[in-house]
Amino acid sequence: MITLSTNQVYPVIWKEDRVLLIDQNKLPTEYTFVEISRSDDMAQAIKTMIVRGAPAIGVAAAYGMYLGAREIETDNRDEFLTRLEQVAQMLRQTRPTAVNLFWAIAQMQKTASQTIGSVDYLKQVMLETAKKINAEDIQTCQAIGDAGLKVLPSKPDKLCLLTHCNAGALATAGYGTALGVVRSAWRAERLARVYADETRPRLQGARLTSWECVQEGIPVTVITDNMAAHCMKQGLIDAVVVGADRIAANGDTANKIGTYSLAIVAKAHNVPFFVAAPLSTIDFELDNGNKIPIEERHPSEIYQIGDTVICPTGVEFYNPAFDVTPAELISAIITEHGAVPPNQLKQFQSN
Ligand code: MRU
Repeated sequence: MITLSTNQVYPVIWKEDRVLLIDQNKLPTEYTFVEISRSDDMAQAIKTMIVRGAPAIGVAAAYGMYLGAREIETDNRDEFLTRLEQVAQMLRQTRPTAVNLFWAIAQMQKTASQTIGSVDYLKQVMLETAKKINAEDIQTCQAIGDAGLKVLPSKPDKLCLLTHCNAGALATAGYGTALGVVRSAWRAERLARVYADETRPRLQGARLTSWECVQEGIPVTVITDNMAAHCMKQGLIDAVVVGADRIAANGDTANKIGTYSLAIVAKAHNVPFFVAAPLSTIDFELDNGNKIPIEERHPSEIYQIGDTVICPTGVEFYNPAFDVTPAELISAIITEHGAVPPNQLKQFQSN
């Protein structure tokens, strides 16, 4: 396994004429890259979670749109745009919950339709747009991290923060959202320790968040998802910080399954509960969280651990990948433009 500083972890990299993706299904035992040169391979990589995490999915989809554009052989602008919509449709069908996917695809389509010039020129500008989405996401995450620092509890001096899933460098273009707050707290010497929920069924906390913390020397304790209440009762947790896949206009927040129960448990123990996310994760078209589409994944994620089947035959399964935390359980939403109570998100609508 390669060890490197976490601020050098970039899950999506444009290299010469292709995309390199860290294979997140193989971490932490193997740190390897998958090369993607075609849009259908990018769609597959998103679906199978080689690349995952809302902002990272958005960046990957932006490059996927460019790869798809590159595959279209025509000089006719209208035909190009029609066929580009087919690429967009393929990418939109990969994962339904993270709005960043749809946001990034829309940005790429807007670039194509608003650029004047030949089809070749359109393709060139699309690549520049994808690179820009990639680069800006890193800056956005750093701004989220710094904004988070301002709303974390002032006592004790060094905090213990609990997080769920992986909202780190691996889930973004780099640095992370929830883990960006953790990282900024660590660099400001305000962090004692991170508690990472293992995050059943795909174990993003146990595999990815812990890996990122180890790379940066951040003290990390992995707990199983059902231990959070006990840890809070023992006074081990000063605040919870999680990421988001889609935030409705009223602040209701979809994030990895288990986030909702964590928020309830935090409320019961008077522990502040923060959501850290870029403005591109807010879906102002949805009034509330009931309308957020929730992805259901294959039951094998539940009945199988590695190659071992853990359930008897004849059992039924339900495997929603996300849940929605009601706004009233959220202390503040931390964005790149500052942290606000969930009911004040509307001020960001025009951004
Ligand atoms: O299914 P995943 O691993 O893509 O889910 C990821 C999460 O739920 C993250 O918390 C969310 O996308 C925010 S990532 C900055």
